[in-house]
Order: sequence, then C-alpha cells, then structure tokens
Amino acid sequence: MQQHNVLILDFGSQYTQLIARRVRELNIYCEIHPFNKIPKNINSFKAVILSGSPFSVRSEEAPHPDLSEIRGKKPLLAVCYGAQYLANFSGGLVAPSNTREYGRANLSFIKNEETFFKDISVGSQVWMSHSDTIKELPTNGVLLASTHDVENAAYKIEGENTYAIQFHPEVYHSTDGAKLLKNFLVNIAEVEQNWTPNSFVDSTVNNLKEKIGDDKVILGLSGGVDSTVAGVLLHKAIGENLHCIFVNNGLLRKNEYESVLQQYEGMGLNVKGVDASNRFLDALEGISDPETKRKAIGRVFIEVFDDEASKVENAKWLAQGTIYPDVIESVSVNGGPSATIKSHHNVGGLPDFMKLKVVEPLRMIFKDEVRRVGASMGIDKELLGRHPFPGPGLAIRILGDITSEKVRILQEVDAIFINGLKEDGLYNKVWQAGAILLPVNSVGVMGDERTYEKVVALRAVESTDGMTADWVNLPYEFLQKTSNKIINNVKGVNRVVYDISSKPPATIEWE
Ligand code: XMP
Repeated sequence: MQQHNVLILDFGSQYTQLIARRVRELNIYCEIHPFNKIPKNINSFKAVILSGSPFSVRSEEAPHPDLSEIRGKKPLLAVCYGAQYLANFSGGLVAPSNTREYGRANLSFIKNEETFFKDISVGSQVWMSHSDTIKELPTNGVLLASTHDVENAAYKIEGENTYAIQFHPEVYHSTDGAKLLKNFLVNIAEVEQNWTPNSFVDSTVNNLKEKIGDDKVILGLSGGVDSTVAGVLLHKAIGENLHCIFVNNGLLRKNEYESVLQQYEGMGLNVKGVDASNRFLDALEGISDPETKRKAIGRVFIEVFDDEASKVENAKWLAQGTIYPDVIESVSVNGGPSATIKSHHNVGGLPDFMKLKVVEPLRMIFKDEVRRVGASMGIDKELLGRHPFPGPGLAIRILGDITSEKVRILQEVDAIFINGLKEDGLYNKVWQAGAILLPVNSVGVMGDERTYEKVVALRAVESTDGMTADWVNLPYEFLQKTSNKIINNVKGVNRVVYDISSKPPATIEWE
C-alpha cells in the first residue's frame, strides 16, 4: 500500500481535504502534507497533486516551494493555484485576470488528449474560483482546454506526465471531476486502486499487532462511531489485552448506557461499564454556565476514567479514536505560510501522570471511511449511522442548572423525537437531532386545568461536518404528531417549539 500512494501538497485551499476524499473514493490511498514540508520519502509516492490556495502566486507570502524533485520526475497534477504556481515556477506568466472567474464554466478541448480527457465530453461543466490567470504557459507547455473566460484552463508540459487545470475537479459542481482525477491517477500515473476498507483492516490489524505486541491497551468508549470502530480494530489485533471503559455520566440518551454496553459485550469487547451518574450530577449541582458545566464534566470524566484505568495493571497504551481531519497539518492562511497542527480535544484531556503511549488506529482515515471500515468488520449499521452526540451530553441541552428530574424529562422528550424520526424514515436524512429543555415555564390548559410547565425545543440540522448547518424542513405532519406525543406523554412539558436557525449565526447546540 505504501508504494502506491498519492501525495497531495497543500497550499491552504479550503478544498484540499475534498481532493483527498475524492482520491480515496477511487480506492487510492493519499496523504495531505503542507507545501513547506515535502516528505523526505518522496520516492514512495507514485503521483503528486498540487492543491489550490487563497494566495496569489504574485504575493511574496504565497507558497513557493521548490518543485524540482517532483516536476518531470513523478506524474503531477496541478489544480487551480497549483496550476498557476507550476506555470510561474516553469517559465510561464501569471497576472490578475480581467474577467470574473468564479463559478460554473464549460470546457472546450483545444488538443485531443485522449487519456487525460477519457469519457469527458465537450462542454463538460467545471467549477472555477480564482482571481489571477495564467497569461503565458510555461516552457514546453501545451494548451489542452479553454473555457469562455479562461483561455489556459488546462495544459500539460510536453514530454512529461505533468498536467495542470485551472478549475477544481474535487468539487461536486465539476461534473466530470472524479473521472478526470481517475484518468490522471489510474491511466496516466498508473496508481493501483487497492485501498479498500478490507485492505485497511488487514494492514492496520497487522501494524497494531506488531506495534503493541503483548502489551495492554486502554480505550475509552463513548458509544460513538469513532471509538467503537477503533475498539473493534484493536480487539481484532490484540483481543483481551484491549481493556475498554464505558462511563455513564448520567447525561446520555434514555436507556443508552444499558443498550450500548450490551452491544459492546455482544461484539466480544472486553468492556467495563462504570455508572458514575451520581458523581457527575453532584459535580454539576447549581452550575448554569455552559463552559463551567463542560469543565466540571471533563474533570469528573478524567477522575473516573483514571480510577478505572489504574485498575488495569501494567497497561502501556492509551488508544484514541482520533481521525484524519484532526491531525492534518493545516496551512495557515492568516499568519503567513507557516504550518500549525490543530489541537485535538481528546489529546488535550490526558492527565500527565498517566504515562501511557498513545495509539490511534484511525488517524489516517476520514469519517466516511471510518463508517465503511466499521461496516466491513460487521459493526451494526444502526450504530455506525448514529447522529453525533456531544461529549457533555444532555448537560448542554438543559439550559440553566441541571437536576436529575430535568434529565429524566429531557430523556423522555428526546426519545420520542428520535424514535419518531426513525419510525418515519427521517433519521438518516438528518445529520444531527435532539431536544433542548428551556429554562422557562409557559402557561397551558390541560382538560379544565391551567398548567404552568416546561417548554422544549426540537432541533434537527443538515450538515457535512458540523462547521455550518441548516435546519431541516421536517414535514408538518411529523412535527404535529411529535409535539402531541411529547405533551401527552411527558409529565412536566406543555409546549414544544421547533428551532429554525441556521449555523452561522446560531450554533447547533444551544449552549
Ligand atoms: P455547535 O454547537 O458548536 O456544535 O454548532 C457543533 C458540533 O459539535 C458538537 N459539540 C460538542 N461535542 N463536546 C463535544 O464532544 C462539546 O462540548 C460540544 N459542543 C458542541 C455538537 O453536538 C455538534 O455536533
């Protein structure tokens, strides 16, 4: 696998990760590295892709790496800024463009380049996003395609496997983008399409066996997809030497602790359930401020986890469900072209005195790949398709202070909402959903009596990564049915509202 991978040199584009995902969708392994840290083992990469960038090639601060070990020596595809930089680096000219070059455009072929444009028809829609343009092709450059506004939309360098495109093949709006990536990687660079969930499982299990040997490993399971898949992979590699800990903080969904624990046991994991609900609720007593809640929960979690972990004698490793987006070194676009590593909340929570080595079996794969790897190992589909759920759980969905009675009310409401989504086939159409208990009472009538009870808000959003989100247009009939069910069945609630705010400016959670 290591011999047939692709290097993506990142110049700071917001789309760089998308290039990587498109490449992985072709069953080809690739890695993203910042432009100023070209890997020393460059020979183990079969092809290189240069990403886009928010910089202008003409700016002094822009990425200007030395490509002499790459260009002409390896198959190279340069995208957007990459195409401009390649031109600039190789004797061409880049200048500000006179026309607007954002959004849709259509390709017309200037040269019949059969392999590169295989199965791509004339007029194919591509997506442009740039303000500079390539005025003169580099030395030995051959024009391949143009659009209405962009003359040098695609070129190659004669005598080399070097191709450049001004548009973004990785975005959905470039209709034949995936075909173009495949043409370059498979037909021109001859990279093998052997990166599959099964091959990942096999190689990871072997690597873990070798790395860990007979050592004991501790893993905190959360009920979420990442920690579960990490657990099953490690279990395959080291069996009972993997010691899993699943903590009930008392702020999980209704019956979640019991059912998830049972599922883990059913998978054969060596798991210890720790019900610390009271310890968390005691620590949260009287706290209303969201950040103080988070800190209290984080502190108690580490105490509980550490108590349990210290019971595992001679443990040498702590496993974590860190995934690729958490560890990709991102190119800083604000503070100059320096590379900074994003801090990861899981890593930050480790107490210093737990002197364990860290193992992260998922650190090179994306979320969608985690799900596919999980499915290939036979993990239950429902578990893999679960909505994200915040670490502090219902604590940040109970606005104001937290009591066991409020947790009970919210668990009931949440269960009616979530089960309803599942029953009506809506659950998988929503990225995340949940209920929020508001710190207000409202007047109602039930029978002949006046009530003065709690208000709950329902929230359902669509998103791809939680960074931006929009509220979901759930059918009125569904909202009506759910509202009736909640008010008729959950004692203490007499009003239900639906949150119709997008992120930004609102956030997904209310706290
Ligand atoms: P926001 O509310 O910031 O949420 O729009 C974005 C995503 O992050 C989750 N979230 C958290 N997850 N600990 C977590 O593990 C937290 O403190 C936390 N706060 C928000 C939220 O559920 C959504 O998926």
